[in-house]
Amino acid sequence: MAVDLLLGLQWGDEGKGKIVDVLTSKYDIIARFQGGPNAGHTLVFNEKKYVLHTIPSGIFHKEKINLIGNGVVIDPVILNKEIENIKAEYVDITKTLFISRKAHLILPTHRLLDAASEKSKGKNKIGSTLKGIGPTYMDKTGRNGFRVGDLENENWKTKYDELSKKHQQLINFYNVELNFSLENLESEFFAAIEKLRKINFVDSENLLLKSQESDKSILAEGAQGSLLDIDFGTYPYVTSSNTTAAGACTGLGISPNSINDVFGIFKAYTTRVGSGPFPTELFDEYGKKMSKIGNEFGATTGRPRRCGWLDLVALKYACKINGVTKLMMMKTDVLSGFDKVLICTKYKYRGQVIENLPYDLSDSSLEPIFEEFQGWSEDLRKLESADDLPENLNNYINFLEIQLNIPIVIVSVGPDRKETLFR
Ligand code: IMP
Repeated sequence: MAVDLLLGLQWGDEGKGKIVDVLTSKYDIIARFQGGPNAGHTLVFNEKKYVLHTIPSGIFHKEKINLIGNGVVIDPVILNKEIENIKAEYVDITKTLFISRKAHLILPTHRLLDAASEKSKGKNKIGSTLKGIGPTYMDKTGRNGFRVGDLENENWKTKYDELSKKHQQLINFYNVELNFSLENLESEFFAAIEKLRKINFVDSENLLLKSQESDKSILAEGAQGSLLDIDFGTYPYVTSSNTTAAGACTGLGISPNSINDVFGIFKAYTTRVGSGPFPTELFDEYGKKMSKIGNEFGATTGRPRRCGWLDLVALKYACKINGVTKLMMMKTDVLSGFDKVLICTKYKYRGQVIENLPYDLSDSSLEPIFEEFQGWSEDLRKLESADDLPENLNNYINFLEIQLNIPIVIVSVGPDRKETLFR
């Protein structure tokens, strides 16, 4: 049985959590393949809202297996808080949540290193979520990391102490002022480790291989978005993992030829949180309206998200890099009531018109070239079928489908599970 992938095509916050939750009934296993608690996947159902950071978004479907893959970095303190929050839904994580032994742990000193590194960069800071993501992946690729499986070794504390000491030296090296009590952070961390031991640690690649052999269906859930990919995103303003389709292979141990559908999720407009180039960013009333109606604040940090028109040049690039087979357009309701809607179809760059992403999106000569569409005013949240979408919105959707040559199979018209139109 094949594996389907679901990933974000912009700078994250596309609404992946909602769609995974909507699609979960079709799958046996939901597996997160990269990122960590920098992600905030929001799910709304039965008038309740939940934000997941590390746990896969299929967790509320109680008979499904939810796997945190080897490519994910885990902060046990945050994971435990998530588990506490979902208890209200009577989710028994001892039966349905599994963690890869090969996943790396975020130590308290990783978080401090993240803060020190950002502070030392001054105005060139990445705008990190400060969850320790970068330093943890650095230790992973530097072959110094601390993995979930290390907790099964009786000498785990010695390994922890050695790594923590090294981090403390590095923090001193940055020579910036940080207010923290390592003692408090560590006591919270060690308490969380004991709770973490109640979750099933597995060799997740084997679990997934066996599941495929016995015809179980798997949905691989990405975090962040393609333009934040460590290789193909707007480097250095990116996260530290491969958010694109290839990341699912290394982050779960699945082979490329086992991948079937690649679901690409994008917002009907664009947002970005943190620093870095954003060619279609708006600083006018349209941008403010998107931010207000779309409630564009980070689910993890609460920071306001920057807003702008849809960037088709970047979207085409993301679709190609990922091999997207089906598209899902999110937050379409937010654009209702706009008199016009714009799509960036090309860039002006160093005196030329280009249709591809240049090496450096921050180049000061780069300007978006837009096509304008008539807006729509209907309240989409009341619609029950994609057949009832307003004509002007259909024109917008048809234009995108022709340009991208990929069908848009879902149009999301609100945060609730129910507000999802299938085409
Ligand atoms: P980090 O991954 O926390 O180091 O952050 C690096 C960059 O990625 C920053 O600009 C963050 O705002 C951004 N980022 C990280 N995770 C997410 C996410 O889940 N959604 C949107 N942006 C994110």
